[in-house]
Amino acid sequence: MSTLDTIREQFPITRQCFVNESGNRQTITYLDHGASTHPPAPVLDSYREFLERYYANIHRGNHYLSQKASELYDCVSEVVLNYIGGGSGADNSVIFTSNTTTALDIASYLMQDVAGATLVSSMEHHSNDLPHRRRGAVKRIEVLRDGTLDYEDLERKLVAGGIKLVAITGASNVTGYMPDIRLIARLAHANGARILVDGAQLLAHHAVDLLPNDDDSHIDFFAAAGHKAYAPFGTAFLVAPNQVLERTEPYIPGGGTVKFVTDTDVVWAEGVERHTGGTPNIPGVIALGSALNWLSEIGLDWVRRHEVELLTSVESRLRGIEGVTFLGDIPAEKKLGVLPFNITGIHHEQVAAILNERYGIATRNGCFCAHPYLTRLLHCTDAEAVRRKVEAGEDVLLPGAVRATIGIYNNAEDLDKLVAAVADLAAEALKGTMFPASDKPSACIEAM
Ligand SMILES: Cc1ncc(COP(=O)(O)O)c(C=O)c1O
Repeated sequence: MSTLDTIREQFPITRQCFVNESGNRQTITYLDHGASTHPPAPVLDSYREFLERYYANIHRGNHYLSQKASELYDCVSEVVLNYIGGGSGADNSVIFTSNTTTALDIASYLMQDVAGATLVSSMEHHSNDLPHRRRGAVKRIEVLRDGTLDYEDLERKLVAGGIKLVAITGASNVTGYMPDIRLIARLAHANGARILVDGAQLLAHHAVDLLPNDDDSHIDFFAAAGHKAYAPFGTAFLVAPNQVLERTEPYIPGGGTVKFVTDTDVVWAEGVERHTGGTPNIPGVIALGSALNWLSEIGLDWVRRHEVELLTSVESRLRGIEGVTFLGDIPAEKKLGVLPFNITGIHHEQVAAILNERYGIATRNGCFCAHPYLTRLLHCTDAEAVRRKVEAGEDVLLPGAVRATIGIYNNAEDLDKLVAAVADLAAEALKGTMFPASDKPSACIEAM
């Protein structure tokens, strides 16, 4: 058996069947790994083992179950730090959260009292943009026509001064583009700012190395989630420098965040405890540790080679189909296996629905929680007009695209199915027979 077949075999979900619109049973060709990935058997086993054998709340429990649960939970911080090169724990800590959005919000919160603005890119997921808007001034780095970052704009804005934090994605969830986070870290540090990397998309697809804290290219804050890295839903993390954890009061004050409380006063706990209010998702954290160990055993180099090979072949074939337009124009070495496209004459929602119903192919469509990036990629010249219509409650078709995303267990056959299905749909759309124009006004101006 090849490595890929062995890996695929470990995903029970690949054997799950659905009944399609013609009443036939079919398996799903899953190309929505950018939204969430499935847990493989070893990760499910560790999750279930905890539930069956060690289920107990952690810390402060003096019985065997609690001690075992604490031991299993506590060692995951080290697994995370090892996985992303975050050091030994002397410099950085891991705060476990429920999702990436919360992890990014905590980073923003930890920096809120520092003077200066946050510099976000125009390709960010809303989760790495909106939290910063709540916490002071935000400036934006522009993106170029091909969907990559405008580094000159970034440098100009940093050199102009007054930036405390650069909040940048490790990989875009829309185009898969991976900004040069080393270069950005160097520029940020040289200009007195810290860097926060949204690693949600990166974590399971590309090796990450935060580098030692005294290296001028190191990453200060790193956020990511298990549900995009082959762990179950409900667990994510923020890696942050120990230095900043005591700068603020707890993110959510409550049980576990204190040393002592009187009727009128509190002595807050230190470090990670201070920002871990309430019971965490203990089995989720343990399963996240298993998922990262599982990925490390396979090797991120293997994962990357495999996914780039699939990406290179499928992207060139999709681009060659008449009527298919792609968002962004980014070489494979600078992107993850993310394929955002439209078919001329069919709304993205209809494309995704037909891919699902007729072909059993799971993709995602819409704006991918990155409206500013989408409007730029689609050259939607008047985003403000769209906003006004949406605010007024008008029924507007938002600009968007279909997105197929490659994961570790996808094989060439999965991508062949996608190419064949898209070719079919594009050909039907060209004939103009089966896709009646929507009566809703479209906000989409022109696809790239
Ligand atoms: C780049 C990026 N950042 C942040 C998020 C938000 O992640 P979560 O759903 O874990 O909060 C996503 C989710 O799709 C994402 O792709």
